[in-house]
Amino acid sequence: MTKAVTRAIFHGGIAAVLLALLGTASVQVFAQGTAPSAGQAVAFDRTKGNCLACHTMRGSDVPSNVGPELNDMKARFPDRADLIAILQNEEARNPQTIMPSFGRNLILDHQEIEQIVDFLYSL
Ligand code: HEC
Repeated sequence: MTKAVTRAIFHGGIAAVLLALLGTASVQVFAQGTAPSAGQAVAFDRTKGNCLACHTMRGSDVPSNVGPELNDMKARFPDRADLIAILQNEEARNPQTIMPSFGRNLILDHQEIEQIVDFLYSL
């Protein structure tokens, strides 16, 4: 093999690796970009989460103070499992709560709860 051919293959290899990396990066950005809006749709849907009936959240202009405002979620709930648990069965944490136990009562399925948590982490 000549030096020129070796160099061409080498550079081609680097380009392929870079393209592969860029490809992965854009897929991840896409996944992160779509997940919150899917969760927002479920959270705001009155027949699903209906979170706005009780919570003020960014993205809505209907303030409600039945429950606490949902903001700074990543800082306040760094453990994703805590948010999943609240949505699954808030009554376990607070037997007196008026917040529906969405998972336990089959109002939201597992995937919808995961999508809402993705959305909450964008708040
Ligand atoms: C009927 C009213 C009601 C609805 C609907 C409701 N919540 Fe709540 N939520 C509350 C109340 C009240 C609390 C305060 C804690 C408690 O009562 O246990 C709370 C607490 C929370 C907390 C803990 C917040 C904190 O700062 O401690 C999170 C997270 C949460 N709700 C998320 C949601 C999401 C997401 C939805 C929609 C899927 C939702 N809630 C729907 C009433 C509601």
